[in-house]
Amino acid sequence: MSTTPQTPYQILGEDGIRTLVNTFYDLMESAPEHAALRRMHAKDLTPMREKLAEYLIGWMGGPPLYADKYGTVCMTEPHEPYWIGPEERDQWLRCMYQALEQSNTPPEAIDMLREPLYRVAEAVRNRPNSRTQSDDVIASG
Ligand code: HEM
Repeated sequence: MSTTPQTPYQILGEDGIRTLVNTFYDLMESAPEHAALRRMHAKDLTPMREKLAEYLIGWMGGPPLYADKYGTVCMTEPHEPYWIGPEERDQWLRCMYQALEQSNTPPEAIDMLREPLYRVAEAVRNRPNSRTQSDDVIASG
């Protein structure tokens, strides 16, 4: 018996992806461990809730909502203004992995998403070191 491989979009659906994204930003807004990540973002996260949901819906195999609206799925350019080193990348990933655990995402979808999420986060990294490390270097002369 053969089973048709499922995309994360088929498992989660649009509602599940929107729940994941809302959980991600709720955690970013409320958990002290994500305060540094929160400070990088605009005061009002409402537009980001929509943008990231649209992006992930397409990225997970659903309709290309973000591409249709913005004409690209390249994430390098929109991240250029921000300092994203290894620590910033990992802060984003920790928040997203927590959101996956807390948003009723089925374990098989979590397994499918971990590695590809790491790869996208690594692709938007645009600094060899984290801001904290570079501040330390400056502070210690
Ligand atoms: C899988 C990895 C990631 C994805 C899919 C993603 C997705 C996005 C999207 C769709 C946007 C909106 C772009 C636009 O203006 O159209 C965005 C903006 C942004 N991202 Fe990411 N991102 C990722 C990783 C990161 C990482 C590692 C950081 C840094 C810690 C980061 C920080 C930001 C910030 C600060 C903004 C601007 C938000 C604002 O305007 O409030 N992202 N990201």
